Amino acid sequence: MRKNLIIFITLAVLSFGLLGCPPKEGTGNTSTSAAGGEILVGEYGSMTGPQATFGQSTHNGIMMAADEVNVAGGINGRKVKVLSEDDQSKQEEAANAVTKLISQNNVLAIIGEVASSASIAAAPICQSNKVPMITPSSTNDEVTRKGDYIFRICFTDSYQGEYQAVFADQWAAASAKPKTVAMLTDVKSDYSQGLAKVFTAKFTALGGKIVGTQSYANGDSDFRSQLTAIKGTNPSLLYVPGYYTDIGQIAIQARDLGITAPLLGGDGWESPKLIEIGGKALEGSFYTNHYFYADPSPVVSGFVQKYKERYGQTPDALAALGYDAMKTLADAMKRASKLDGPSLRDAIGQTKGLVGVTGTINIGPERNAMGKKLVIEEIKNGQLTLKATIDPAKGGKVEMNNAAPAAVTTTTGGPPPAAATTTTGGN
Ligand code: PHE
Repeated sequence: MRKNLIIFITLAVLSFGLLGCPPKEGTGNTSTSAAGGEILVGEYGSMTGPQATFGQSTHNGIMMAADEVNVAGGINGRKVKVLSEDDQSKQEEAANAVTKLISQNNVLAIIGEVASSASIAAAPICQSNKVPMITPSSTNDEVTRKGDYIFRICFTDSYQGEYQAVFADQWAAASAKPKTVAMLTDVKSDYSQGLAKVFTAKFTALGGKIVGTQSYANGDSDFRSQLTAIKGTNPSLLYVPGYYTDIGQIAIQARDLGITAPLLGGDGWESPKLIEIGGKALEGSFYTNHYFYADPSPVVSGFVQKYKERYGQTPDALAALGYDAMKTLADAMKRASKLDGPSLRDAIGQTKGLVGVTGTINIGPERNAMGKKLVIEEIKNGQLTLKATIDPAKGGKVEMNNAAPAAVTTTTGGPPPAAATTTTGGN
């Protein structure tokens, strides 16, 4: 009892300390972005909470890119310094984090968030302060509609959701199953709701049928009543556009209830924790993603190797996107006529042909990355395997991968290394 109390107090003091401290690697107000010293870049993300691996992986990718930029001479001789804020996977904290980075730290630009709802909460603050924001990975279409300072370097959900529907249709045909899908969506997530809408429109246009729709709220742990209702509709596929923590548990409970249909989801499944949580229940399920870590192309394999050397872990898509976001920002900072918000905004908007790990980055008129590739992964024998690729440069068809799965190391092993977890501490 007494021991518990001591632990509780220690934790409370520690967490107060974390919240009260300046951001990691911060230098407070001592160097401003406009002066000749270091260029301050803010990062806000879910370093803790139910989407913790999103923030941690993104942070790792950003830091690796920033270090490479600095080693190569910085931005016309000036070093980049990244100040990171943990929003604890909470939308309201995302807004607070961005406010702090802008008003206290005076950052020139901001990278974040992963979760679309968090980006949507914080983007208006960047916009009204004329601080360019690049989200590495928020796919909901609304994010970049928040204003002309808001950019993304990934594809959108109107693209991702449409291809999920095309894939579902082709998968049903190839497996001689009826074109029936049941959906389970997260009511608290703009991402989940947006994808469900796009998926439904395309899948029904292709002649498919949505036989059941159920919902949950991010953080729920019991999905049995929704899954019981879904079981009665006997779908060929169960579409679950959510985040990894919920997905793992949904998969387990679905199998417990006797649902055998594969699950289909989106990039929000991407985490080293997914298979750790869901285990065997996820076998044969599919999700769309931004890159495949075992892609043999030199740009991907080179990145994976460098990342493994630095962090002792296989990079997930978030790490690759964080890396690409920092590289995009650095490229724009080098080209900007001045290092102020409006000039940097213009330079980011003019990004063309920048070779990234997740594909070539071309920013279009609506501040979205255009023409990016999409991959569909299947979970087989506890491993991620490449099921299909969609490349707009090759006509945007779902190309099934019929090659044998690569014999590669698992991405599911182990917690993030200490280097990743300590980044959230203050000071
Ligand atoms: N696209 C998701 C969103 O907008 C976030 C995400 C991206 C999660 C990539 C995992 C991998 O909410």
